[in-house]
Amino acid sequence: MMKEKIALVTGGTGGIGEAICVRLLNDGYKVVAAYQNKEKAEAWQLRQKEAGLKIEIVHCQVTDFEACGKAVKWVEDNVGMIDILVNNAGITKDGAFKKMTPERWDAVIDTNLNSVFNMTRQVFEGMVDRGFGRIINISSVNGQMGQFGQCNYTAAKAGMHGFTKSLAREIARKGVTVNTLSPGYVSTPMVMAIAEDVRKKIEAGIPVGRLCQAEEIAHGVSYLASDLAAYVTGSELDINGGLFMH
Ligand code: CAA
Repeated sequence: MMKEKIALVTGGTGGIGEAICVRLLNDGYKVVAAYQNKEKAEAWQLRQKEAGLKIEIVHCQVTDFEACGKAVKWVEDNVGMIDILVNNAGITKDGAFKKMTPERWDAVIDTNLNSVFNMTRQVFEGMVDRGFGRIINISSVNGQMGQFGQCNYTAAKAGMHGFTKSLAREIARKGVTVNTLSPGYVSTPMVMAIAEDVRKKIEAGIPVGRLCQAEEIAHGVSYLASDLAAYVTGSELDINGGLFMH
């Protein structure tokens, strides 16, 4: 059997992150979930353990380059070299642009976009040296379409895909792929926090007629991580129920 590959998932204890961790574990990877809140993450890890799932956790403030370096080093020293990086950590701070403060702007750009630089910069050289790697950036349909009240979020999410395309070109010959996966509206706490009337209107506009399940996003991650996805790079995989077609 080939060596067990190692996957690091940022925001691994959150809605989509958890589904990604569980799926990659079931696919046979060793999985590490990077978290921000220790108490929440430890309780989460225990719940996974009780369900028979062994997932490592590592503290990582994704907005902080040095902290990301330390987290990556901890994984390398305690688990092994990272083969798959899923940049999944993300937040929303929605509000009409006239109410958009620098704090809301910076928080979302830092967590959703600067984090992608902070994490990827720490792992990609190792992947290139070893001749294998998968960098999977979890973006959003709203980064493609725009959304009322989300100038900060959509700027970050669209920025992720620009990053994907440039880095994909730089390392395409080294066995390392870089892709974006753009979910539609997934039934996670983030989406359930949208005002119900607004959410109902959004749901009514989804051709498939329902919200997405986190497992359906994890299935896409599993594909992009696989050996047979070696020819897929710089691409954007839409899992949005037909909400945006292009
Ligand atoms: N379309 C058109 N006009 C809108 C509107 C909309 N969607 N939302 C608000 N407005 C109007 C209001 O009627 C109001 O008009 P007036 O000034 O003429 O009265 C004006 O815009 C300002 O409205 P608010 O004071 O309510 O604005 P706000 O700053 O408090 O916030 C909002 C508005 C809550 C952000 C609302 O626009 C909204 O919920 N938008 C959807 C946000 C959304 O989809 N977020 C997704 C979160 S989940 C996620 O992001 C995951 C993913 O990747 C898909």
